Amino acid sequence: MRHSGRAFRSGREMTKKIPKFKTRVTELFGIEYPIIQGGMSWVADHHLVVPVSEAGGLGVLGAGSMSPSQLHGEVAAVRAGTSKPFGVNVPLTRSDAPKLIRVCMDLEVKIVFTSAGNPAVFTPELKEKGITVVHVVSNVRQAVRAERAGVDAVVAEGFEAGGHIGREEIGTITLVPQVVDAVSIPVIAAGGIADARGFVAALALGAEGVQVGTRFAATVEANCSIYYKNAIVRAEDAATVVVTRSLLPTRVIRNALAEELLRAEQRGAQEPQLREILGEGRARMAIVDGELAEGLIEAGQSAGLVKSLRTVELVFQDFLEGYVKVLNRLQGLVERRSAR
Ligand SMILES: Cc1cc2nc3c(=O)[nH]c(=O)nc-3n(C[C@H](O)[C@H](O)[C@H](O)COP(=O)(O)O)c2cc1C
Repeated sequence: MRHSGRAFRSGREMTKKIPKFKTRVTELFGIEYPIIQGGMSWVADHHLVVPVSEAGGLGVLGAGSMSPSQLHGEVAAVRAGTSKPFGVNVPLTRSDAPKLIRVCMDLEVKIVFTSAGNPAVFTPELKEKGITVVHVVSNVRQAVRAERAGVDAVVAEGFEAGGHIGREEIGTITLVPQVVDAVSIPVIAAGGIADARGFVAALALGAEGVQVGTRFAATVEANCSIYYKNAIVRAEDAATVVVTRSLLPTRVIRNALAEELLRAEQRGAQEPQLREILGEGRARMAIVDGELAEGLIEAGQSAGLVKSLRTVELVFQDFLEGYVKVLNRLQGLVERRSAR
């Protein structure tokens, strides 16, 4: 069944207002708009990927929470829903990352996003198979290393982002231009982008596309718990904290578990004690099962910008119509100044 929810199908007038984008990122992926939905573990399965790709962005499956056989099924489900481009995200820190990468190659997935880990390990083989490879980085050194490994683009993900984040805690507004200056491949900005203002800002910083996570997690289509989605919608500016800095820094919405982890870290708890508090499967508990006190509610600072649950179509509409409005506002600022 083809997904019918194409964005902007509803009005010729609306389409008129939507700019046509041409960046190295839209060219690389063969998409209409330089908007990529982050491959979020526990959130990004075909239910989200299909409408995003159908809307003209790039939907990305989050294989970080899938077994190889589940990934197999998810790729098939995306292909049944859309003929448009989509990607698969594989966190390289997973012990079975080689198997997930193998599934991508066997199924001739065209675009693979790798994150964490060393991009030099799989990039040459993926490239040999003609696959477009993108690596997620959180500092300039990683970006340069990824470019050297032969990736086609990097996602520069700032400290504002949801889920696992970089140890150096560099914010998106300073990270993106430094990565842009350091590499010659296209850069996709991520972390803290949830509306047209962030979209325009990221492009102003030199990015040629944006990767958006938290905003897409709080959509009607995302196949995760409504309690988790509502936690994002309810979240205010200071709702998120970074826990488990000494293990794997992770941005979550503050709850009883996050408080307990923070207290333990302040007491100087070491890895074994933190692991004991953390236990197993906490992200799944919050995101899939909606256990908001016991689970890790992974989300970015951009949760503060997410004020309602929206359809994917409306998120695209907000970004694209908003893009024009923001540009007009910026233009107005210049004109007012020069008229003085
Ligand atoms: C619940 C959740 C799970 C995530 N899982 C992954 C993952 O498995 N692999 C990955 O590369 N990024 C992951 N991310 C990061 C997103 O792909 C994206 O880069 C990030 O959310 C962007 O920041 P934003 O949340 O402010 O939009 C995750 C983010 C969230 C919120």
